[in-house]
Amino acid sequence: MRIGIPQESKAGEMLVAATGATVGLLRKLGYEVVVEAGAGAASDQPDEVYAAAEARVGGAEEVWSSDVVVKVNAPTPEEIGRLRRGAVVVSMMAPARSPELVEALVAAGVTALAMDAVPRISRAQSMDVLSSMANVAGYRAVVEGAYAFGRQFTGQVTAAGKVPPARVFVVGAGVAGLAALGAAGSMGAIVRAFDVRPEVAEQVESMGAQFVTVDMESEVSSDGYAKEMTAEQVAATAAMYDEEARGADIVITTALIPGRPAPKLITAGTIAAMRTGSVIIDMAAANGGNTELTRTDEVVVTDNGVTIIGYTDLAGRLPAQTSQLYGTNIVNLLKLMTPEKDGVLALDLDDVVVRGITVAHEGASMWPPPAVKVSAAPAPVAAAEPVVPKPPPDPRRTVYAAGIAAVLFILVATFSPPEFLGHFTVFVLAVFVGYYVISNVAHALHTPLMSETNAISGIILVGGILQVGSTNPAIAIMATLAVLVASINIFGGFLVTLRMLQMFRKD
Ligand code: NAI
Repeated sequence: MRIGIPQESKAGEMLVAATGATVGLLRKLGYEVVVEAGAGAASDQPDEVYAAAEARVGGAEEVWSSDVVVKVNAPTPEEIGRLRRGAVVVSMMAPARSPELVEALVAAGVTALAMDAVPRISRAQSMDVLSSMANVAGYRAVVEGAYAFGRQFTGQVTAAGKVPPARVFVVGAGVAGLAALGAAGSMGAIVRAFDVRPEVAEQVESMGAQFVTVDMESEVSSDGYAKEMTAEQVAATAAMYDEEARGADIVITTALIPGRPAPKLITAGTIAAMRTGSVIIDMAAANGGNTELTRTDEVVVTDNGVTIIGYTDLAGRLPAQTSQLYGTNIVNLLKLMTPEKDGVLALDLDDVVVRGITVAHEGASMWPPPAVKVSAAPAPVAAAEPVVPKPPPDPRRTVYAAGIAAVLFILVATFSPPEFLGHFTVFVLAVFVGYYVISNVAHALHTPLMSETNAISGIILVGGILQVGSTNPAIAIMATLAVLVASINIFGGFLVTLRMLQMFRKD
């Protein structure tokens, strides 16, 4: 099958659906690829890069008549008209908010796959474009905010005086929010964040930010997304938003409930009370914005000097990286849909990911897909078994065991050679010390512990090698076994360590 990568028609769009690297991977899946001339120019992907990856650089006609057309933005009505009946079109589509687009795709008899409808399940993470875009966008929001703020984020004590750190407040700790708070924190700001989903508090804190708590009823989400707030929750959070925003230099809002207009969380009154020079980056601008004064794709400066940035193309402002990530998401989807690697797209509607993104197929609307239930919350703990108290150990058993051990020890001490007793005492002590040391080491420290046992195995190995030539067959067998077991431990340990180090190695 032939995959066509067109030039994006949306004004100002810098992204492209494939890079030289991802085209190479599509070719490996058996597809022929044709890229519209100039499509990747804004993402640092000149035509030669595609040609080098064995794609054909062609004209729009050839691209749009392909079996599969892959793009970034939803196709326009004019573009839908250029698709062949039965062709497959893959792009972001916001199908929940675009019923007219879904209708047009159905009428055109094409199969439409919405990359922004990938369900949020672990298996689909590698195809989740919203996450890859939001991740880049969260970072870029901080860069835009820092530029508009015009002061440094990190606090300093210099000979010329003290510079306080910037205070950043992030609303919504989803993908974009976490990326933003991570970037702001790494630049030295004091970061606070709030989210209606209580389960993200740990993630926020693990990234060094403070989670703002509000005294209200909130439930753990069942699908990784928030539900619309109740009237009580709105009332409970309003005062917090007001207080946090007034105290912040930079506010980054990312609150989103899928398929709904963005909740208005920062009021005009709050903005009027914010300090001159403070900045709001409203990442939810595309859905109407989280503040009452956001204007989509515009920068508003209020009378009291607060800058409100409503860009909706934050990810596109880092085009080379975003195109690469988007292209990789596409490759991962096509890997799933090309199990035979034969360049033939298989639409398996029993696959929850494929079903989730299929908006239209063979002239029928497939939207909305059946709900997928997942949770970022810990699995509920099964109802605890009633605890039956253990009967206390019979004290007589302990006395008997101690007695038998003492008799055995006296017998061993009496009838064994004198040097054995010394070795035996060391052995028994080693068992006790080893047991108490190892059982008290935290899980996080098991790797260094493993290195230590490697060192002990090294000593055993040397001892075993010294004894392996003994004329006493029992000693020779024991020594051979010791050499074998210690070698497995040492070389196994090296292999595990090597694998772990590879995880941290940059290519
Ligand atoms: P997400 O669903 O991962 O995160 C949204 C978070 O907002 C969730 O954690 C949710 O619990 C929280 N939330 C919902 N209602 C809330 C409320 N009333 N108060 C506090 N938190 C609330 O979404 P993601 O991927 O992080 O995207 C966030 C926003 O960024 C979306 O609006 C998305 O459209 C936008 N975005 C904007 C871009 C741009 O260029 N401006 C680029 C990429 C994403």
